[in-house]
Amino acid sequence: MKWLFTYLTSSIGKKQVMGASGCLIALFVLIHVVGNLQLLLPDAEKAQAAYNLYTALLTKSKLVLYSFEAGMVVLFIVHIYLAITLKLQNYKARGAARYVVDDRKGKKQFPTFIMIWSGLTVLAFLVWHLVTFRSGSYSYYYYVNPELMDGIVVRDMWLTVVEMLGDTVSAVLFLSAILAVGFHLWHAISSAIQTMGINHPKWTPIINKLALAYCVAITLGFGAAIAGTWATVNMDLFNTKATIEKSKDSNYQSFLERLSEQPVEDQKAFTKRKSFRGGPDFSGKKYRFGGEGRGKGEGRGPHYRKGESIEESQNPEELGEGGEQ
Ligand code: HEM
Repeated sequence: MKWLFTYLTSSIGKKQVMGASGCLIALFVLIHVVGNLQLLLPDAEKAQAAYNLYTALLTKSKLVLYSFEAGMVVLFIVHIYLAITLKLQNYKARGAARYVVDDRKGKKQFPTFIMIWSGLTVLAFLVWHLVTFRSGSYSYYYYVNPELMDGIVVRDMWLTVVEMLGDTVSAVLFLSAILAVGFHLWHAISSAIQTMGINHPKWTPIINKLALAYCVAITLGFGAAIAGTWATVNMDLFNTKATIEKSKDSNYQSFLERLSEQPVEDQKAFTKRKSFRGGPDFSGKKYRFGGEGRGKGEGRGPHYRKGESIEESQNPEELGEGGEQ
Protein backbone atom coordinates (compact mmCIF):
# COMPACT_ATOMS: atom_id res chain seq x y z
CA MET A 1 0.00 0.00 0.00
CA LYS A 2 2.92 2.32 0.75
CA TRP A 3 4.03 2.23 -2.88
CA LEU A 4 0.53 3.40 -3.91
CA PHE A 5 0.66 6.33 -1.50
CA THR A 6 4.17 7.24 -2.64
CA TYR A 7 3.06 7.03 -6.27
CA LEU A 8 -0.09 9.10 -5.75
CA THR A 9 1.74 11.83 -3.85
CA SER A 10 4.64 12.02 -6.27
CA SER A 11 4.61 14.65 -8.95
CA ILE A 12 4.74 12.10 -11.79
CA GLY A 13 1.97 10.01 -10.16
CA LYS A 14 -0.28 13.05 -9.87
CA LYS A 15 0.34 14.01 -13.49
CA GLN A 16 -0.41 10.51 -14.74
CA VAL A 17 -3.60 10.23 -12.67
CA MET A 18 -4.71 13.67 -13.84
CA GLY A 19 -4.05 12.70 -17.48
CA ALA A 20 -5.87 9.36 -17.14
CA SER A 21 -8.90 10.85 -15.34
CA GLY A 22 -9.02 13.67 -17.93
CA CYS A 23 -9.02 11.11 -20.77
CA LEU A 24 -11.86 9.15 -19.12
CA ILE A 25 -13.94 12.33 -18.68
CA ALA A 26 -13.22 13.30 -22.29
CA LEU A 27 -14.34 9.84 -23.42
CA PHE A 28 -17.58 10.09 -21.43
CA VAL A 29 -18.30 13.53 -22.90
CA LEU A 30 -17.69 12.18 -26.43
CA ILE A 31 -20.12 9.27 -25.85
CA HIS A 32 -22.60 11.72 -24.31
CA VAL A 33 -22.52 14.04 -27.33
CA VAL A 34 -23.13 11.13 -29.72
CA GLY A 35 -25.97 9.91 -27.47
CA ASN A 36 -27.55 13.37 -27.50
CA LEU A 37 -27.24 13.74 -31.27
CA GLN A 38 -29.79 10.92 -31.53
CA LEU A 39 -32.37 13.55 -30.55
CA LEU A 40 -32.09 14.72 -34.15
CA LEU A 41 -33.04 11.49 -35.93
CA PRO A 42 -35.51 12.51 -38.64
CA ASP A 43 -38.45 10.59 -37.19
CA ALA A 44 -39.61 11.50 -33.68
CA GLU A 45 -40.63 7.96 -32.70
CA LYS A 46 -37.28 6.58 -33.84
CA ALA A 47 -35.46 9.37 -31.98
CA GLN A 48 -37.50 8.59 -28.87
CA ALA A 49 -36.67 4.87 -29.09
CA ALA A 50 -32.97 5.46 -29.73
CA TYR A 51 -32.56 8.13 -27.02
CA ASN A 52 -34.40 6.08 -24.40
CA LEU A 53 -32.32 3.05 -25.25
CA TYR A 54 -29.16 5.11 -24.74
CA THR A 55 -30.26 6.69 -21.43
CA ALA A 56 -31.71 3.38 -20.18
CA LEU A 57 -28.20 1.92 -20.29
CA LEU A 58 -27.81 3.90 -17.08
CA THR A 59 -31.30 4.46 -15.73
CA LYS A 60 -32.84 0.98 -16.01
CA SER A 61 -30.84 -0.37 -13.08
CA LYS A 62 -30.40 1.64 -9.87
CA LEU A 63 -27.21 -0.29 -9.09
CA VAL A 64 -25.65 0.59 -12.44
CA LEU A 65 -26.83 4.20 -12.16
CA TYR A 66 -25.51 4.77 -8.64
CA SER A 67 -22.19 3.00 -9.27
CA PHE A 68 -21.67 4.98 -12.47
CA GLU A 69 -22.55 8.24 -10.73
CA ALA A 70 -20.26 7.52 -7.79
CA GLY A 71 -17.49 6.75 -10.30
CA MET A 72 -18.13 10.01 -12.19
CA VAL A 73 -18.14 12.08 -8.99
CA VAL A 74 -14.82 10.55 -7.83
CA LEU A 75 -13.35 11.06 -11.31
CA PHE A 76 -14.38 14.74 -11.41
CA ILE A 77 -13.19 15.47 -7.85
CA VAL A 78 -9.82 13.73 -8.31
CA HIS A 79 -9.32 15.41 -11.67
CA ILE A 80 -10.20 18.92 -10.53
CA TYR A 81 -8.17 18.58 -7.30
CA LEU A 82 -5.07 17.40 -9.17
CA ALA A 83 -5.45 20.03 -11.90
CA ILE A 84 -5.48 22.81 -9.29
CA THR A 85 -2.69 21.44 -7.04
CA LEU A 86 -0.38 20.72 -9.98
CA LYS A 87 -1.02 24.16 -11.42
CA LEU A 88 -0.17 25.81 -8.07
CA GLN A 89 2.92 23.59 -7.72
CA ASN A 90 4.13 24.64 -11.17
CA TYR A 91 3.41 28.28 -10.45
CA LYS A 92 5.41 28.23 -7.20
CA ALA A 93 8.27 26.30 -8.80
CA ARG A 94 8.62 28.92 -11.50
CA GLY A 95 9.09 31.57 -8.82
CA ALA A 96 10.26 34.95 -10.05
CA ALA A 97 10.63 33.66 -13.59
CA ARG A 98 6.86 33.67 -14.00
CA TYR A 99 6.90 37.43 -14.01
CA VAL A 100 9.40 37.59 -16.81
CA VAL A 101 8.65 34.98 -19.47
CA ASP A 102 5.76 32.91 -20.62
CA ASP A 103 7.09 29.55 -21.77
CA ARG A 104 4.14 29.08 -24.13
CA LYS A 105 5.86 31.14 -26.77
CA GLY A 106 3.54 33.21 -28.87
CA LYS A 107 0.48 32.04 -26.92
CA LYS A 108 -1.72 34.30 -24.92
CA GLN A 109 -2.32 33.22 -21.33
CA PHE A 110 -5.97 33.32 -20.41
CA PRO A 111 -6.46 35.15 -17.17
CA THR A 112 -7.01 32.74 -14.28
CA PHE A 113 -10.28 34.40 -13.35
CA ILE A 114 -11.79 33.55 -16.78
CA MET A 115 -10.83 29.91 -16.25
CA ILE A 116 -12.24 29.92 -12.73
CA TRP A 117 -15.54 31.46 -13.83
CA SER A 118 -15.98 29.26 -16.88
CA GLY A 119 -15.09 26.25 -14.71
CA LEU A 120 -17.70 27.23 -12.14
CA THR A 121 -20.25 27.70 -14.96
CA VAL A 122 -19.52 24.16 -16.21
CA LEU A 123 -19.93 22.77 -12.69
CA ALA A 124 -23.18 24.69 -12.12
CA PHE A 125 -24.49 23.49 -15.50
CA LEU A 126 -23.66 19.88 -14.65
CA VAL A 127 -25.56 20.00 -11.36
CA TRP A 128 -28.46 21.99 -12.88
CA HIS A 129 -28.99 19.68 -15.86
CA LEU A 130 -28.85 16.56 -13.69
CA VAL A 131 -31.29 17.93 -11.12
CA THR A 132 -33.78 19.18 -13.74
CA PHE A 133 -33.72 15.97 -15.75
CA ARG A 134 -34.15 13.92 -12.64
CA SER A 135 -36.71 15.79 -10.59
CA GLY A 136 -37.31 19.21 -12.12
CA SER A 137 -40.50 20.74 -13.40
CA TYR A 138 -40.10 18.70 -16.61
CA SER A 139 -41.97 15.73 -15.27
CA TYR A 140 -41.08 12.15 -14.78
CA TYR A 141 -42.43 10.25 -17.79
CA TYR A 142 -42.43 6.55 -18.56
CA TYR A 143 -41.82 4.74 -21.81
CA VAL A 144 -42.05 1.27 -23.15
CA ASN A 145 -41.23 -0.28 -26.48
CA PRO A 146 -41.89 -4.02 -26.77
CA GLU A 147 -39.12 -4.29 -29.35
CA LEU A 148 -36.48 -2.76 -27.10
CA MET A 149 -35.03 -3.69 -23.72
CA ASP A 150 -37.27 -6.75 -23.62
CA GLY A 151 -40.34 -4.55 -23.29
CA ILE A 152 -39.63 -3.31 -19.75
CA VAL A 153 -40.87 0.10 -18.61
CA VAL A 154 -38.13 2.74 -18.46
CA ARG A 155 -38.03 6.51 -18.05
CA ASP A 156 -38.97 8.55 -21.09
CA MET A 157 -35.87 10.74 -21.04
CA TRP A 158 -36.54 11.72 -24.66
CA LEU A 159 -39.82 13.32 -23.64
CA THR A 160 -38.27 15.06 -20.62
CA VAL A 161 -35.35 16.45 -22.65
CA VAL A 162 -37.48 17.45 -25.66
CA GLU A 163 -39.97 19.25 -23.42
CA MET A 164 -37.17 21.15 -21.76
CA LEU A 165 -35.19 22.07 -24.87
CA GLY A 166 -38.41 23.02 -26.68
CA ASP A 167 -38.63 25.89 -24.21
CA THR A 168 -36.71 28.87 -25.65
CA VAL A 169 -35.31 30.17 -22.33
CA SER A 170 -33.99 26.74 -21.32
CA ALA A 171 -32.52 26.17 -24.79
CA VAL A 172 -30.66 29.52 -24.66
CA LEU A 173 -29.35 28.73 -21.15
CA PHE A 174 -28.21 25.33 -22.35
CA LEU A 175 -26.45 26.84 -25.39
CA SER A 176 -24.62 29.44 -23.27
CA ALA A 177 -23.50 26.71 -20.88
CA ILE A 178 -22.21 24.59 -23.77
CA LEU A 179 -20.12 27.53 -25.03
CA ALA A 180 -18.58 27.77 -21.54
CA VAL A 181 -17.95 24.01 -21.59
CA GLY A 182 -16.18 24.20 -24.98
CA PHE A 183 -14.10 27.23 -23.99
CA HIS A 184 -13.16 25.81 -20.62
CA LEU A 185 -12.26 22.38 -22.01
CA TRP A 186 -10.02 23.85 -24.68
CA HIS A 187 -7.97 25.96 -22.29
CA ALA A 188 -7.99 23.30 -19.60
CA ILE A 189 -6.59 20.71 -22.01
CA SER A 190 -3.84 22.94 -23.42
CA SER A 191 -2.91 24.03 -19.91
CA ALA A 192 -2.88 20.40 -18.73
CA ILE A 193 -0.57 19.46 -21.60
CA GLN A 194 1.81 22.13 -20.40
CA THR A 195 1.46 21.20 -16.71
CA MET A 196 2.21 17.56 -17.49
CA GLY A 197 5.46 18.70 -19.08
CA ILE A 198 4.60 17.34 -22.54
CA ASN A 199 7.02 19.27 -24.67
CA HIS A 200 8.00 17.62 -27.90
CA PRO A 201 8.84 19.62 -31.03
CA LYS A 202 6.83 17.31 -33.29
CA TRP A 203 4.08 15.87 -31.06
CA THR A 204 3.07 18.80 -28.87
CA PRO A 205 1.66 20.90 -31.76
CA ILE A 206 -0.21 17.81 -33.05
CA ILE A 207 -1.64 17.05 -29.58
CA ASN A 208 -2.71 20.70 -29.24
CA LYS A 209 -4.46 20.60 -32.63
CA LEU A 210 -6.24 17.34 -31.73
CA ALA A 211 -7.37 18.89 -28.44
CA LEU A 212 -8.75 21.90 -30.29
CA ALA A 213 -10.54 19.67 -32.84
CA TYR A 214 -12.04 17.63 -29.99
CA CYS A 215 -13.34 20.75 -28.22
CA VAL A 216 -14.80 22.22 -31.42
CA ALA A 217 -16.53 18.88 -32.20
CA ILE A 218 -17.95 18.64 -28.68
CA THR A 219 -19.23 22.22 -28.70
CA LEU A 220 -20.75 21.94 -32.18
CA GLY A 221 -22.24 18.52 -31.37
CA PHE A 222 -23.98 19.64 -28.17
CA GLY A 223 -24.93 22.95 -29.82
CA ALA A 224 -26.53 21.10 -32.76
CA ALA A 225 -28.40 18.77 -30.39
CA ILE A 226 -29.82 21.71 -28.43
CA ALA A 227 -30.67 24.02 -31.35
CA GLY A 228 -31.94 21.10 -33.46
CA THR A 229 -34.21 19.82 -30.68
CA TRP A 230 -35.62 23.31 -30.15
CA ALA A 231 -36.38 23.46 -33.90
CA THR A 232 -37.99 20.00 -34.08
CA VAL A 233 -40.41 21.00 -31.32
CA ASN A 234 -41.15 24.59 -32.28
CA MET A 235 -41.28 24.04 -36.04
CA ASP A 236 -42.94 20.66 -35.56
CA LEU A 237 -40.46 18.74 -37.68
CA PHE A 238 -40.41 14.93 -37.89
CA ASN A 239 -43.86 14.53 -36.33
CA THR A 240 -42.47 15.67 -32.98
CA LYS A 241 -45.56 17.40 -31.56
CA ALA A 242 -47.86 14.44 -32.24
CA THR A 243 -45.35 12.05 -30.64
CA ILE A 244 -45.09 14.31 -27.57
CA GLU A 245 -48.88 14.43 -27.19
CA LYS A 246 -49.26 10.70 -27.70
CA SER A 247 -46.57 9.89 -25.15
CA LYS A 248 -47.94 12.34 -22.57
CA ASP A 249 -51.44 10.82 -22.61
CA SER A 250 -52.30 10.79 -18.90
CA ASN A 251 -54.04 7.39 -19.03
CA TYR A 252 -51.04 5.87 -20.69
CA GLN A 253 -48.62 7.50 -18.25
CA SER A 254 -50.53 6.46 -15.13
CA PHE A 255 -50.82 2.95 -16.52
CA LEU A 256 -47.09 2.72 -17.18
CA GLU A 257 -46.34 4.11 -13.74
CA ARG A 258 -48.31 1.23 -12.17
CA LEU A 259 -46.73 -1.26 -14.53
CA SER A 260 -43.23 -0.01 -13.69
CA GLU A 261 -43.84 -1.06 -10.07
CA GLN A 262 -44.41 -4.68 -11.13
CA PRO A 263 -41.77 -7.41 -11.40
CA VAL A 264 -39.92 -7.13 -14.70
CA GLU A 265 -41.25 -10.51 -15.84
CA ASP A 266 -44.84 -9.16 -15.60
CA GLN A 267 -43.85 -6.02 -17.46
CA LYS A 268 -42.34 -8.02 -20.30
CA ALA A 269 -45.27 -10.41 -20.48
CA PHE A 270 -47.79 -7.59 -20.70
CA THR A 271 -46.03 -5.27 -23.11
CA LYS A 272 -45.30 -8.12 -25.49
CA ARG A 273 -48.99 -8.84 -26.02
CA LYS A 274 -49.98 -8.32 -29.59
CA SER A 275 -52.63 -5.80 -28.67
CA PHE A 276 -50.14 -3.58 -26.83
CA ARG A 277 -47.76 -3.33 -29.73
CA GLY A 278 -49.50 -0.32 -31.15
CA GLY A 279 -47.84 1.69 -28.37
CA PRO A 280 -49.46 4.48 -26.42
CA ASP A 281 -52.95 4.16 -27.76
CA PHE A 282 -55.74 3.35 -25.34
CA SER A 283 -58.55 4.28 -27.67
CA GLY A 284 -60.98 1.45 -28.21
CA LYS A 285 -59.17 -0.84 -25.79
CA LYS A 286 -60.51 -1.80 -22.42
CA TYR A 287 -58.35 -2.95 -19.58
CA ARG A 288 -59.49 -4.78 -16.51
CA PHE A 289 -57.14 -4.95 -13.59
CA GLY A 290 -57.43 -7.30 -10.70
CA GLY A 291 -58.47 -10.59 -12.28
CA GLU A 292 -61.43 -12.52 -11.00
CA GLY A 293 -63.61 -11.72 -8.01
CA ARG A 294 -63.22 -7.95 -8.04
CA GLY A 295 -66.07 -5.88 -6.75
CA LYS A 296 -67.83 -3.24 -8.78
CA GLY A 297 -65.81 -0.12 -9.37
CA GLU A 298 -62.47 -1.68 -8.51
CA GLY A 299 -59.67 -1.51 -10.97
CA ARG A 300 -61.03 1.46 -12.83
CA GLY A 301 -58.92 3.00 -15.51
CA PRO A 302 -55.65 1.70 -16.85
CA HIS A 303 -54.21 0.89 -13.44
CA TYR A 304 -52.42 -2.18 -12.38
CA ARG A 305 -52.06 -3.16 -8.73
CA LYS A 306 -49.20 -5.21 -7.46
CA GLY A 307 -49.66 -8.92 -8.11
CA GLU A 308 -52.85 -8.42 -10.13
CA SER A 309 -53.48 -9.81 -13.54
CA ILE A 310 -54.43 -7.65 -16.49
CA GLU A 311 -57.14 -8.51 -18.94
CA GLU A 312 -57.92 -6.55 -22.00
CA SER A 313 -60.42 -6.55 -24.78
CA GLN A 314 -61.59 -4.43 -27.65
CA ASN A 315 -65.11 -5.17 -26.50
CA PRO A 316 -66.24 -3.65 -23.17
CA GLU A 317 -69.07 -6.18 -22.85
CA GLU A 318 -66.56 -9.01 -22.51
CA LEU A 319 -65.06 -7.48 -19.42
CA GLY A 320 -68.25 -6.88 -17.52
CA GLU A 321 -68.90 -4.01 -15.16
CA GLY A 322 -65.34 -3.38 -13.89
CA GLY A 323 -63.82 -3.23 -17.33
CA GLU A 324 -63.36 0.44 -17.92
CA GLN A 325 -60.84 2.39 -19.81
C1 HEM B 1 -27.27 18.83 -25.23
C2 HEM B 1 -26.83 18.95 -24.00
C3 HEM B 1 -27.06 17.87 -22.96
C4 HEM B 1 -28.17 17.10 -22.75
C5 HEM B 1 -29.51 17.14 -23.49
C6 HEM B 1 -27.84 16.19 -21.66
C7 HEM B 1 -28.70 15.23 -21.14
C8 HEM B 1 -28.41 14.37 -20.11
C9 HEM B 1 -29.31 13.37 -19.58
C10 HEM B 1 -30.71 13.09 -20.11
C11 HEM B 1 -28.67 12.74 -18.57
C12 HEM B 1 -29.21 11.58 -17.71
C13 HEM B 1 -29.84 12.14 -16.45
C14 HEM B 1 -30.31 11.03 -15.54
O1 HEM B 1 -29.56 10.09 -15.30
O2 HEM B 1 -31.44 11.13 -15.06
C15 HEM B 1 -27.35 13.32 -18.46
C16 HEM B 1 -26.39 12.95 -17.54
C17 HEM B 1 -25.13 13.49 -17.47
N1 HEM B 1 -24.60 14.48 -18.25
FE1 HEM B 1 -25.59 15.45 -19.73
N2 HEM B 1 -26.55 16.44 -21.24
C18 HEM B 1 -26.03 17.47 -22.01
C19 HEM B 1 -24.77 18.01 -21.92
C20 HEM B 1 -23.79 17.60 -21.03
C21 HEM B 1 -22.43 18.14 -20.95
C22 HEM B 1 -21.91 19.26 -21.84
C23 HEM B 1 -21.79 17.47 -19.95
C24 HEM B 1 -20.38 17.61 -19.43
C25 HEM B 1 -19.59 18.59 -19.53
C26 HEM B 1 -22.71 16.51 -19.41
C27 HEM B 1 -22.42 15.64 -18.38
C28 HEM B 1 -23.30 14.73 -17.84
C29 HEM B 1 -22.99 13.88 -16.72
C30 HEM B 1 -21.65 13.85 -15.95
C31 HEM B 1 -24.12 13.10 -16.50
C32 HEM B 1 -24.27 12.09 -15.38
C33 HEM B 1 -24.36 10.72 -15.83
C34 HEM B 1 -25.00 10.03 -14.66
O3 HEM B 1 -24.29 9.84 -13.69
O4 HEM B 1 -26.21 9.75 -14.72
N3 HEM B 1 -23.92 16.62 -20.08
N4 HEM B 1 -27.22 14.31 -19.41
